[in-house]
Amino acid sequence: SLTTVGLEMINVSASWDEGIVELFEKIKRENKANGHLTGDDGLFFTNLYVTPVLKSINLRLEEGMMLAVAGSTGSGKSSLLMMILGELVPSEGKIKHSGRVSYSPQTSWIMPGTIRDNILFGLTYDEYRYTSIIRACQLEEDFDLLPDKDKTPIAEGGVTLSGGQRARICLARAVYKDADLYLLDAPFTHLDIATEKEIFDKCVCKLMASKTRVVVTCKLEHLKRADRIILLHNGDCYFYGTFSELQAQRPDFSSLLLG
Ligand code: CTP
Repeated sequence: SLTTVGLEMINVSASWDEGIVELFEKIKRENKANGHLTGDDGLFFTNLYVTPVLKSINLRLEEGMMLAVAGSTGSGKSSLLMMILGELVPSEGKIKHSGRVSYSPQTSWIMPGTIRDNILFGLTYDEYRYTSIIRACQLEEDFDLLPDKDKTPIAEGGVTLSGGQRARICLARAVYKDADLYLLDAPFTHLDIATEKEIFDKCVCKLMASKTRVVVTCKLEHLKRADRIILLHNGDCYFYGTFSELQAQRPDFSSLLLG
C-alpha cells in the first residue's frame, strides 16, 4: 500500500531490571573485594526484579493515526512510551518510527521564565501556530486573568499555576514542537471533565488530526475516537485493534480501565 508507517512495534519485549541487576552485581563485587560475605543474596533481587515490563508487543500505526494506550496502573503504559523514546531499550523485537518525537511526560514540569517561554521552549514564535495551540488547549481564558497574559513570569518570583494550568502548558509545549510522532502521557491529569473533553476534541483530535499520536488514556470516549487501541495488563498486550474489535473480542474490557 501507499501508506507510510508512523510507528511500528514487532514482537517487542523489555524490562527495567537490567540497571538493578547490574547495580547488584557491582555491590556484590565490591563486597567481595572488601571481604564481606554476600552468599547468594543476589537471587532475591534477581527473582524479584527480572520480570519483563512489556511482553511481545505488536502494533502498527499509519502516519496520522491516533493510538490510545490504556490499562490499569502499573500495566506498562508509560514504559511503552519510554521505549518509543529510546529510554527503555527492548530486549527483543524491533521498533520503527520516522524519527522526530515530541513527548509530554505524565508529570508536568515548568522552567523559570514566562508562560510563553515555557510553551515555545526555545523555538521561534509563530503567532498563528501559537494562537491555535493555546486556544485548543483552553489557555486563552487563563492568560486573560494574568497581569501580563502569557508574558507573565512563572516559577520563582512569578505567579503560581494550578495543576491543571501546568498540565495544559506542558501539553501546549509538546504540541508546539514540530515532530513526526507525538507521545502524550496522560495529558489530562488535573483537568475537570468538561475541559478534558474540550481539549481532547479541539487539540488532540482536530488540531493534531494529521499527526501520528500515542495518547495514554483510559477514558472510554477517547478509546472510541482513537484509530487503534492497545490495552495492557501486567505488561501483556490484552488487546490491540479498533474500538469495535475491542467490544467484540473483549466485552469485559472496562474492568481493566479503572485506575
Ligand atoms: N518501572 C520501573 N522503572 C521505571 C519505570 C517503571 O521499574 N523507570 C516499573 C513500574 O514499577 C511498574 C512497571 O514498570 O511495575 C510499569 O510501570 P509504568 O509503565 O509506569 O505503568 P503505567 O501503566 O504507566 O502506570 P500508571 O498508570 O500508574 O502511570
